Amino acid sequence: MDVPPPEIAYSRMRWNAPLSLPHAESLLHQLQLADAATLVDLGCGWGELLLQAAAMHPALHCEGIDNQAWAIERARGATVERGLAARVRFRLQDATTWDGSAHRLMCIGSSHAWGGSSQALRALAARSAPGGYLLYGDGCWEHGRPPADAVAIFGDGVLRLGDLAAEAVAAGWRVMHSSTADLREWDEFESSWRDGREHWLRTNADDPAAEELRQLVERRLREYLDVYRGVLGFAYLVLRK
Ligand SMILES: C[S@@+](CC[C@H](N)C(=O)[O-])C[C@H]1O[C@@H](n2cnc3c(N)ncnc32)[C@H](O)[C@@H]1O
Repeated sequence: MDVPPPEIAYSRMRWNAPLSLPHAESLLHQLQLADAATLVDLGCGWGELLLQAAAMHPALHCEGIDNQAWAIERARGATVERGLAARVRFRLQDATTWDGSAHRLMCIGSSHAWGGSSQALRALAARSAPGGYLLYGDGCWEHGRPPADAVAIFGDGVLRLGDLAAEAVAAGWRVMHSSTADLREWDEFESSWRDGREHWLRTNADDPAAEELRQLVERRLREYLDVYRGVLGFAYLVLRK
C-alpha cells in the first residue's frame, strides 16, 4: 500500500501541475474550445482542467483518460458533484492505447507515458486531424544549460524550453501560444504536494512509515528551494496540427 494513500497525498492539490486558475482559463481560451465539440485529456489525473473546460463551454463533450484508478474515481466524483456527468466521462485506460479522435486534445505533465517529450508530441500529432489543437504541458529547463545537481534529480530527458518548442514543430505542430508556470504557481504546486503528506504525518505520527515519509518531504523541500526552484520550468504550449 502507498503511504500515504494517493487520495490523501494529493488531496491538497487543485491539479497535479504548477498552474493557477487565471493561467488555466487563459490556456483554455487559447485552445479555441468555442469552435470544438469534443475534448480529450490524456493522462488527465483527477480531471480538474477538463472539468473547468466543460464548465466554461456548455456544448463541449469531454473525456479524460488516466491509468490510476484512484484518480479516475476522484474525477468521477467531482463530475457528478458539479452536474457535468451528461457531458464528461472518465476512463481508466493506458493513454498510449487511446485510438479515438477529438477536435481538441490536452496532455499535461504526462509525456512520460509515451517515453518522453519527443515521443509524446509525435504520438499526439498522429492522433490529431489537420486543424486540431493540443494543449501540451511539460517540464523543461527554464534557462540555458541546467546545473548538474538538477540533472541528477530529473535525468537527462528534460529539454530546454526552446528545444521543446522545436520538438513540437518537428513533430508536425505549429506553436500558437506558449507560456510557462511562474514561481508563484511552482511554490503553490510544491507546497500543496507537501501539504497532503504533512497532513497524513500529523495524524499518523507513530506509523512505522512516518519517518521515511518525513525525510522524503524534507528532502523534496530542500531540493526545491536549493536546486530546482526557477531552474526546472513547466511549459504550456498550445499547438495546432
Ligand atoms: C503529473 S500528473 C498530471 C495529471 C493532470 N494532467 C494534471 O495536470 O493534473 C501525470 C498523470 O499521468 C498519468 N499517467 C502516467 N502514465 C499513464 C499512462 N500510460 N496512461 C494514462 N495515464 C498515465 C498519471 O497517472 C498521472 O495522473
